[in-house]
Amino acid sequence: QAQDADAGRLVFKKCAACHQIGDGAKNGAGPVLTGIIGRPAGSYDGFRYSKYMVAAGEAGHVWDEDSIFEYISNPTKYLRKILDNPRAKAKMRFKLKSEEDRRNVIAYLATFQTT
Ligand code: HEM
Repeated sequence: QAQDADAGRLVFKKCAACHQIGDGAKNGAGPVLTGIIGRPAGSYDGFRYSKYMVAAGEAGHVWDEDSIFEYISNPTKYLRKILDNPRAKAKMRFKLKSEEDRRNVIAYLATFQTT
């Protein structure tokens, strides 16, 4: 697992164009990802989410490893599915196809959980 998180640290460089994580992280083009596992979708303070991500959170969507795994492979497809709305559009325009990279980056995200 430690090894996965280490590989995931390198994968996160792609996410870091938009996301910060850890001590002193700030919102940028994307929301802070510290503590994302177990956090309701669209809920980080001060970030301007799309109305679709806000709707997902209001519908009770809480991020876990599996949902993040699916979301980052195709954010628009994922939001359309969970909202049952074929016109939903993700504000995150980035797709990570590799399953291994997705698994590893999630292991890396998990190292920033405080609970
Ligand atoms: C949202 C993960 C790459 C821009 C999110 C969320 C997660 C996530 C879990 C939901 C956050 C929440 O509900 O609070 C990742 C990971 C990445 C990645 C793991 C790398 C593998 C990127 C990149 C960009 C980006 C490269 C910019 C080009 C955004 C934006 C949102 C978002 C704008 C808000 C979406 C919305 O409001 O609909 N990301 N992301 N992300 N991400 Fe990423």
